[in-house]
Amino acid sequence: MNICCIGAGYVGGPTMAVIAHKCPHVTMNVVDINQARIDQWNSDELPIFEPGLDDIVKANRGKNLFFSTDVDQHIKEADIIFICVNTPTKNYGVGAGSASDLTYIEACARRIAEVADGGKIVVEKSTLPVKTAESLKKIFDSQKTETPFQVLSNPEFLAEGTAVEDLLDPDRVLIGGEETEAGNAAVEKLASVYAEWVSRDKIITTNLWSSELSKLTANAFLAQRISSINSISAICEATGANVDQVAHAIGTDSRIGPKFLKSSVGFGGSCFQKDILNLVYLCDSFGLPEVAEYWRQVVKMNDFQKRRFARRMLKSMFNTVTRKKIAVFGFAFKKDTNDTRESAAIYVCRDLLEEKAYLNIYDPKVSTEQIFSDLGQAQKMEDGSDNPLITIANDPYTAAKDADAIIILTEWDEFKSLDYKSICESMRRPAFLFDGRNVVDLNEMKSLGFDAHGIGKTVWGS
Ligand code: UDX
Ligand code: ADP
Repeated sequence: MNICCIGAGYVGGPTMAVIAHKCPHVTMNVVDINQARIDQWNSDELPIFEPGLDDIVKANRGKNLFFSTDVDQHIKEADIIFICVNTPTKNYGVGAGSASDLTYIEACARRIAEVADGGKIVVEKSTLPVKTAESLKKIFDSQKTETPFQVLSNPEFLAEGTAVEDLLDPDRVLIGGEETEAGNAAVEKLASVYAEWVSRDKIITTNLWSSELSKLTANAFLAQRISSINSISAICEATGANVDQVAHAIGTDSRIGPKFLKSSVGFGGSCFQKDILNLVYLCDSFGLPEVAEYWRQVVKMNDFQKRRFARRMLKSMFNTVTRKKIAVFGFAFKKDTNDTRESAAIYVCRDLLEEKAYLNIYDPKVSTEQIFSDLGQAQKMEDGSDNPLITIANDPYTAAKDADAIIILTEWDEFKSLDYKSICESMRRPAFLFDGRNVVDLNEMKSLGFDAHGIGKTVWGS
């Protein structure tokens, strides 16, 4: 079997590497229009960081796993074509700020229709608005090929940072297809690929729209749990309850469950906000404004949490951070990834820059160029000198030296076991610590001399 994947990003790269690893009889070609990205996939330094990914790519690359920019050739050769291109939120025209930008998806569909002779199975893997498969089908059907194309929806549920683990042992694989004989055959063909390592009872098949909607719904439900617990964190700070204790107490109810109840400075990542906004747009366009408003609130609560964090910092630091040096621990949207898309760190840092604070940022995996680009700042000033507002540190100790405050914005494991005593001694007094992820023990931090604050803890603003 020959498979082509269009889009060598956070979804396409790891997913196809695992399929190639588990299915030695499959020839897997991952293609992308971005030459630099493909070169990285073919080098020792992969473009994305995911635990376990290096080993899997290096073990299969050149055998049955190939990365290339020859999009047309590999589309032609393939039996199954996965579309794994990005679908950011539209920032222009109709639906700006909520609808998904389908430019890249449509470009792929048109390319496939132009170069392939039909008979191929085209799989949507990117998260898409419900009924996108219908638009893809229209493009393919207009080609009038002898054997029609079959469009399937096979949403990806992997989370970054645990992508390889999630792909090797998924909770389920979801495949949606047309409820026709040819549709069922296409679904079965794709199911047989996954069945090489996933048990059949975990492979769920549905119609196309159910599959597309399930992906949006899963992300909306997960994000809703975080916004719910974050809203409770605000009440905890006001009342003296402790949000971790509340989360633990409610999470032991088997109907609620313990996962995704960790209060934080706000959820980030490329999916949650985009998918909820997508759902909101769908509801609005289907004349369901109350449903749209219900889900919109999940995003509003997340925005509130990010802003609330920066405001609380300001309040604790005598209502000013102007010209104060703030050490930022972590910039990625979660640990074990170099991805910063929608990271809460971007919003908190921007708020602090507006207050004219100086930032010393340390993240173990995010590049200097990425941080400056996310913050909309130039690394060098016009006269060639370094940007005075932002310094990137190579380690947390350097970042914190002479700083007024530390903010922990990503839950990297290394932040749990730093020598906080010497860090505190190297800082200006009073030495503030704001833990946006609740990774350190605040009582211990207090005993080391920090004025320590965490989300949903009574010491906030004390
Ligand atoms: C998410 C979904 O989990 C995944 O199934 C889907 O395929 C893509 O979107 P991802 O965005 O990679 O995955 O990471 P996830 O682990 O879901 O975390 C998203 C954000 O929520 C992160 O910023 C994380 O720090 C935050 N989070 C998560 C919390 O603040 N509290 C929690 O309890 C869990
Ligand atoms: P995701 O997190 O959804 O995987 P990424 O942005 O990491 O998103 O990856 C999407 C990839 O798709 C990018 O590398 C981009 O260059 C690629 N891409 C976008 N449009 C096309 C296209 N028409 N043909 C081939 N590759 C494309």
